[in-house]
Amino acid sequence: MNNNTIKYSGRVKTIICKRLTNDWQDLADYFDIQLHEREGFRSGRQAHGVWEWLEQRDRIGELESALNDIGRDDLVEELKKKLVDGESTSLCLAKLFNVPKLPDNFLPRDEQLQPLKQKVLSHTNQPVGITSTTRRVGLQGMGGIGKTVLATALARDEDIRKKFFDGIFWITLGQRPKLLDWQLYLSETLGDNQATFTEISFGKAKLKQLFADKSCLLILDDIWNLNHATTFDVLGEKCQMLVTTRDASIITSFGAVRHELAVLSQEQSLTLLADWAGYKDNTLLPPEANQVVEECGNLPLALSMVGAMLRGKPNLWGNVLQKLLPC
Ligand SMILES: Nc1ncnc2c1ncn2[C@@H]1O[C@H](COP(=O)(O)OP(=O)(O)O)[C@@H](O)[C@H]1O
Ligand SMILES: [Mg+2]
Repeated sequence: MNNNTIKYSGRVKTIICKRLTNDWQDLADYFDIQLHEREGFRSGRQAHGVWEWLEQRDRIGELESALNDIGRDDLVEELKKKLVDGESTSLCLAKLFNVPKLPDNFLPRDEQLQPLKQKVLSHTNQPVGITSTTRRVGLQGMGGIGKTVLATALARDEDIRKKFFDGIFWITLGQRPKLLDWQLYLSETLGDNQATFTEISFGKAKLKQLFADKSCLLILDDIWNLNHATTFDVLGEKCQMLVTTRDASIITSFGAVRHELAVLSQEQSLTLLADWAGYKDNTLLPPEANQVVEECGNLPLALSMVGAMLRGKPNLWGNVLQKLLPC
């Protein structure tokens, strides 16, 4: 059980942040908050900055162990005393296994997350006994479009973690996955420390037993081959699988419900570019920005890389744009 989405009242926030005025850097280090993000915290209120940073990433529940780690156990006591009413329900959140962190300058894409979430949750409204297609969702789109990041946001979503309370499992496959190792990993995390199978088919049988009565979400990131997906076709009726892939045909063959990820809107692209390049607001971007977005094809990967290159170098925009333009 994980308490990652505990909510604290404004009063608790004020008390804790005041007492962290001198220790906020330790906390920022603990969470690997980047220097440029720290610079955005208002002077004298940096602890509030850290707190809000955590809230935006749905990570405020990690505060308790962070405070323990930085030697502020006194504040942990304070936190425990002052949980707001009704919090006990949010304690039933799934633990995350191997789920990646959200990237720097994470841009929430609610218009994508919500429909994807609906697809992933929809099977739970089906009568027990419904199999396969309603329990598999395929997130598809070209490389660098944000599939892994969107799947990460989904895995960390509070409703998803309430629904699949026995665990959210993340497996990264790629072109040449070590399928047996991943099967063993799943067996172990599901509590079978003695798992010793040496063949995929035995692994499948074991995992079927382990998942049978559980309510889990299994995410297979970056599938290149249908056979890799079927290796993990072991889920019980209360489970769900999400696969991500560039290849639409894998999703069709796997019989999964498809969600095709679109590139970023112009506004979202400018925001990501501005965040990376160190501009507080889209409107402050130089005139070349719109064309840079276009040449990056509104792809988050390209925009993040170009934005990072331009950070602190306002004179380079013309130069970078020239390089991006087709010859
Ligand atoms: N929503 C987002 N917010 C911020 N950066 C993003 C977002 N989506 C993608 N990116 C950036 O683009 C990169 C590629 O995204 P990723 O999800 O790995 O693409 P894909 O899995 O489709 O190949 C990420 O490492 C990150 O830097
Ligand atoms: Mg990916």
